[in-house]
Amino acid sequence: MGLFITFEGSEGCGKSTQARLIAEHIRTAGYQVSHVREPGGTAIGDQIRSIVLGMQNTEMDPTAESLLFSASRAQLVNQVIRPQLAAGGIVICDRYADSTYAYQGYGLGRNLADLRTVTAIATAGLVPDVTFWLRIDPAVGLRRKLHPNASAVEWNRLDAHELAFHQRVADGYEALAQAEPKRWVICDAGLPIEALAAQIRTTIEPFLHAGHVTISSVTERTTP
Ligand code: TYD
Repeated sequence: MGLFITFEGSEGCGKSTQARLIAEHIRTAGYQVSHVREPGGTAIGDQIRSIVLGMQNTEMDPTAESLLFSASRAQLVNQVIRPQLAAGGIVICDRYADSTYAYQGYGLGRNLADLRTVTAIATAGLVPDVTFWLRIDPAVGLRRKLHPNASAVEWNRLDAHELAFHQRVADGYEALAQAEPKRWVICDAGLPIEALAAQIRTTIEPFLHAGHVTISSVTERTTP
């Protein structure tokens, strides 16, 4: 039931813009859409977000960090995502468990099998139907994020890692996408915004007609 779409990628890849555009598109077509982001998406998740991303928390232990992201995810899955999917709705989530594998696993070197176990507990095994990876050279993405004209720059504790960390994260995404080609859609984040949005709309179209989602009144639960 329902349709669960996630967006993944390195800093400055433009996934939040694309998540917003596809959410608006599907909502306009009359589907019930929840558009959320991680970490956060709930009142409790937003409190966890400020702890885990806070620049002041330089002493954050990597295990604590992984568990905080997972705690935020558990709250979001149970409070928002599962109820929405059960009602035949669509969920668009800006980052999900793959971010934990890419950042804490590949980036920080935490054990991937352990992260998968924790994720299975946090989500009770909920896996997205489709995941868009907006692929970008991490150096280019960080420059984009820091550009003086970039919209609403939010420089967080994870952004502040060295470039080698961000390269490991990007390599991690590559490995994750290659391992599950049916779920992952690899997109060129260097495309103009509208061209990329069109590609995403085309990919989503068959899912909308697959009978898992119901057209109903237009409602919005949360916006990042
Ligand atoms: P955010 O400001 O939302 O940035 P972005 O626009 O890049 O999504 O910050 C989220 C940060 O948290 C980002 O640096 C990726 C990181 N993150 C993890 O390290 N692990 C996770 O499980 C999640 C969900 C995010």
